[in-house]
Amino acid sequence: MSTDEQKAINKTLAWGLLKTNALVHKLHPTNLRHSFAANPQRASEFSVKTEHLFYDFSRQLVDRATMKLLFSLAKTAGLPEKIQAMFSGLKINVTEGRAVLHTALRQQGNNPVFVDGQDVIPEVKAVLTKVKQFSDEVHSGQRTGMTGKRFKNIISIGIGGSYLGPEYLAEACRAFAKDGLILRFVANVDGTDFAQKTADLDPAESLFVIVSKTFTTAETMKNAATARNWLKAKLGDNPEVVKKHVIAVSTAEKLVSEFGIDPANMFGFWDWVGGRFSAASAVGAVPLSLFLGYENFEQILKGAAWLDEHFLLAPLENNIPVIAGLIDIWNINFLGYHERALLPYAQALLKLAPHTQQVEMESNGKRVDVYGRPVAFATGEVVFGEPGTNGQHSFYQLIHQGMVIPADFIAAINSQYQVGTNSATAVDHQRELLCNFLAQPDALAFGKTADEVREELVSQGKLNADEIEELVPHKVFPGNRPSSSFLINQLTPFTAGLLLALTEHRTVVKGFVWGINSFDQWGVELGKQLGVKVREQFLKQPNDPQGFNPSTGALFRSIIEGKLLN
Ligand code: F6P
Repeated sequence: MSTDEQKAINKTLAWGLLKTNALVHKLHPTNLRHSFAANPQRASEFSVKTEHLFYDFSRQLVDRATMKLLFSLAKTAGLPEKIQAMFSGLKINVTEGRAVLHTALRQQGNNPVFVDGQDVIPEVKAVLTKVKQFSDEVHSGQRTGMTGKRFKNIISIGIGGSYLGPEYLAEACRAFAKDGLILRFVANVDGTDFAQKTADLDPAESLFVIVSKTFTTAETMKNAATARNWLKAKLGDNPEVVKKHVIAVSTAEKLVSEFGIDPANMFGFWDWVGGRFSAASAVGAVPLSLFLGYENFEQILKGAAWLDEHFLLAPLENNIPVIAGLIDIWNINFLGYHERALLPYAQALLKLAPHTQQVEMESNGKRVDVYGRPVAFATGEVVFGEPGTNGQHSFYQLIHQGMVIPADFIAAINSQYQVGTNSATAVDHQRELLCNFLAQPDALAFGKTADEVREELVSQGKLNADEIEELVPHKVFPGNRPSSSFLINQLTPFTAGLLLALTEHRTVVKGFVWGINSFDQWGVELGKQLGVKVREQFLKQPNDPQGFNPSTGALFRSIIEGKLLN
């Protein structure tokens, strides 16, 4: 171990003390009913109030001692210094030798941030100016397609980080979209995605944005080539068609122009922007400014920047992404809960879970630490989710009475649309939604005892005593199921940006404490490499597959034969 190597976090005193604390929790399981009764201040003590976001973690299985130990773990891991290092442009992505500066993409001032001696802020601002100009030209009709028709359809082709973050933001902000503009995303190489997303579109009114940091990703290149053919089939085999109807967001200018795209219509970003952290770069700026107008994209950046500042400046004890990340660590590593349910009570947040899945699971699903040493504890968690109330009618049964899965509830006080009205006998849609947002965490936390069930059944007077006793165990809710509640005023571009940054920072807090590199993704490479070999087989020797194991060989032969083989 070289002198600058840190002790693995699970070998530190802080970790050991948390282990002991967890043991105490195991021997005397937290009873949230008692915790609330014993401490009338619990709700305010275990929550953070800010101008734009309220975070209540009072229903988590933590007490003062646990929180103190978690903050001490964060300090032991050097969390404050690591956060500073990230914002200042140090090359903390060690396996790729890169800085990690997605925060620079939304910086609201002009404070220099240096990478290799060069201030990156002027370049960031220059790209944004170019995006604004381009999207304004499309909206004003100054920039049109081959036939002079205005662009009505924006089709963004990209996958992974070149898709999920922008799609989350597009859905979150759909209520703010420019009239008459359609934005669709094509990500999957399954031709169904392209075919269905373009079936009702007129190529003359369609503008494709090819989003790929590397401009080599197989799925994206396949979809991009198909888009080029689709355009040419209708608009003519003329290089001008691609120049007018296809633009790119990439770091690979040479490949972009080889594809036929006018380099003037390429929007750049930099190797210090990781794919899953790139929604605030041109990756999101181009499709979202076209869809929402540049001014709304600017609001997204402002919201993210607000959270960035909170993350950078708030003390650990009052820092929302830090607390959320530390509680995740408590749940994962000390209580043994390896899943997290993301439950937004806002239909427009329907793509928050898929985006968070990439940010969390691609970043933190690692087997070694930054020094290459195997980690002896779980890194990462399985994140899944659905907007409420839909999830309630799907998987909530399991989280109420089956497995214990820590849950995050997210809601806005005000809806994006006023639907229905409140009266003495009925509430509007938003209040109806929020009834559930308020009720579900309590059901999880406080449950329903056998005595309460019994009392309820007796008062209903429908069953005899034996029948009641038979039913009681089925209707008991154990309670003590941890959850947090996040509340915003309204889902707007600003708060959508804020939630984007919250997702990113919460993830890196965990990576920093665990001592892993949250910014590389070598785990996605092997499958890609094997895919290349399979493609070669498809191209070269369809009747005599070589080099496959018996299982893959049998599947391959069925595909080649075009039918299931007996
Ligand atoms: O899935 C691996 C990955 O490299 C992601 O990290 C990235 O977001 C995605 O592929 C797309 O990469 P690109 O933007 O280079 O097409």
